[in-house]
Amino acid sequence: MSQQKSYPIGVFDSGFGGLTILKELKHHLPAHDFIYLGDNARAPYGSRSFDTVYEYTLECVKKLFDMGCRLVILACNTASAKALRSIQQKDLPNIDPNRRVLGVIRPTTEIAGKFSTNKEIGILATYGTVSSESYLIELNKFFPELKVYQEACPMWVPIIENDEIGTAGAEFFVQRHLHNLLSKSSSIDTLILGCTHYPLLLEEIKKHVPASVKIITQGEIVAAGLVDYLQRH
Ligand code: DGL
Repeated sequence: MSQQKSYPIGVFDSGFGGLTILKELKHHLPAHDFIYLGDNARAPYGSRSFDTVYEYTLECVKKLFDMGCRLVILACNTASAKALRSIQQKDLPNIDPNRRVLGVIRPTTEIAGKFSTNKEIGILATYGTVSSESYLIELNKFFPELKVYQEACPMWVPIIENDEIGTAGAEFFVQRHLHNLLSKSSSIDTLILGCTHYPLLLEEIKKHVPASVKIITQGEIVAAGLVDYLQRH
């Protein structure tokens, strides 16, 4: 055991989605302990108002702080889009300026443009993430030449949370949103799964995406970003 006291890292999502991030965090940071909090009782967050997502996320962050975490990862794009900035700027200075809350959109947008040869990418995300335009704004900062198309998939999280993967209904909604997005431009060569639940639908998604189109999930990206962050801090 190391002599320096280490604290568990909190990982939060509205439900099961953050587990796709946690898996990679555990793989990349095997010496760390993690506490996972999924707010399944109130999922999905994707269609909830800005104020509600902020209120629920802050409650869960405080819970993880109470459980001993000093760093919390919002392993949820919707919470990263709607609550992260307020928590960082408004709440953390009052709660404890030494605690940290990080999201998943920033590490993803920092490198997402590198995956696309045609410089045209599609974002699949919740209604909340899409309407916040966080991906458009952040990607434009790092890759101003990139053309970004978005598609909100409001049924995908309920399908996952209600264990409906593999049903005819799930197939219908997966196909519909991929068709909508890919119809926006034939030059899209990269799809970002901008909701941490969506990798749980990866096999279904692959069936409706041409093999030439890359599908990017966030787990590895967020884990690599956190390794780098911990080294720097
Ligand atoms: N995993 C969350 C995200 O990344 C899902 C949000 C929801 O509950 O709708 O956006």
